[in-house]
Amino acid sequence: GAASKGNYRHFMLKEIFEQPAVIGAALEGRLGEASALAESFGPEAPALFAQTRQIQLIACGTSYHAGLVARYWLERYAGVPVQIEVASEFRYRHPVVADGTLFVTLSQSGETADTLAALRFAKALGYVGSLAICNVPGSSLVRESDLALMTRAGPEIGVASTKAFTTQLIALMLLTLAVGKGRASAGEQAEIVAALKTLPDICRQVLALDGDIETLAQAFAEKRHALFLGRGAHFPVALEGALKLKEISYIHAEGYPAGELKHGPLALVDSEMPVISVAPNDALLEKLKSNLQEVRARGGELFVFADEGVGIDDSEDDVTVLYLPPVHEALAPLLYTLPLQLLSYHVAVLKGTDVDQPRNLAKSVTVE
Ligand code: G6P
Repeated sequence: GAASKGNYRHFMLKEIFEQPAVIGAALEGRLGEASALAESFGPEAPALFAQTRQIQLIACGTSYHAGLVARYWLERYAGVPVQIEVASEFRYRHPVVADGTLFVTLSQSGETADTLAALRFAKALGYVGSLAICNVPGSSLVRESDLALMTRAGPEIGVASTKAFTTQLIALMLLTLAVGKGRASAGEQAEIVAALKTLPDICRQVLALDGDIETLAQAFAEKRHALFLGRGAHFPVALEGALKLKEISYIHAEGYPAGELKHGPLALVDSEMPVISVAPNDALLEKLKSNLQEVRARGGELFVFADEGVGIDDSEDDVTVLYLPPVHEALAPLLYTLPLQLLSYHVAVLKGTDVDQPRNLAKSVTVE
């Protein structure tokens, strides 16, 4: 049943392990050969997408991090300019809305008070239309938006969002493919479509690293601070990794774009602050490697999640590398999220916190 933990110790762990299946569900019937089917977003979607020249993304919490990843995708593969903001800031600004801007909200629950208020506020501002990417059919956000795409993650009980986040990323990649303005060639798009179809299997391979990650978690149990680094579309992955750790293990964690290290956080790096980095095999890898060198030079202990094909010297005690299977570059942010979820989960279990119901937090924040 939906509210049963099955053989898992916590809902969060169960939901982490459900990801291959729900990612498959989120893709079901929504892909063409070299695109995503615009009609999946609703009957009006093809007409609205044709008018869309830019996108405003709005969300809170983990959903906001999904939007941050999507900005890279929508610009790189769809050629659509994107603005993104947390709902609680957007709704109190005086936004200037460019012609042809689609207003997109991201929300697991569809009931987050600030996100809903932002949508209502946006209605009078001249957007071409609104789209909700949401996990709960019939929620307020879905009912009040012109278009909607359900993420099909199924009920998420753990307060710390996991499968809702990765299925939001799937939905956002579908949006990227569906609103594409020809920046990515049909061939490039077909490659992404093919990669999406193999993603559930690759996720399964990554989840099989659970035991290794549980071992690695021991290094964090006694720490008070942690720093997560990523570059490009993996900067939001670092933010999400830090959010997960702070939410459930109560360890202070920050996510930083690795290139900003020398503009502040480097001052904090010592043997007491572990640094976690995601290092997929992309154009920014060499730059990231030199950022990691800066950490080592300051006596920091490094934990790197890297592509198998990436050579990172882990012969010294101060570096631990865990290798992930190769994946299409576009989908790496989704894949690299999984080990960070498992890491925060195991650290929280070691610390004995209430993993599924962390103190002071609510699953859905329906008050302002
Ligand atoms: C709360 C939850 C988070 C969630 C955020 C936004 O803070 O604890 O896990 O990301 O709300 O919720 P939504 O339902 O709008 O995605």
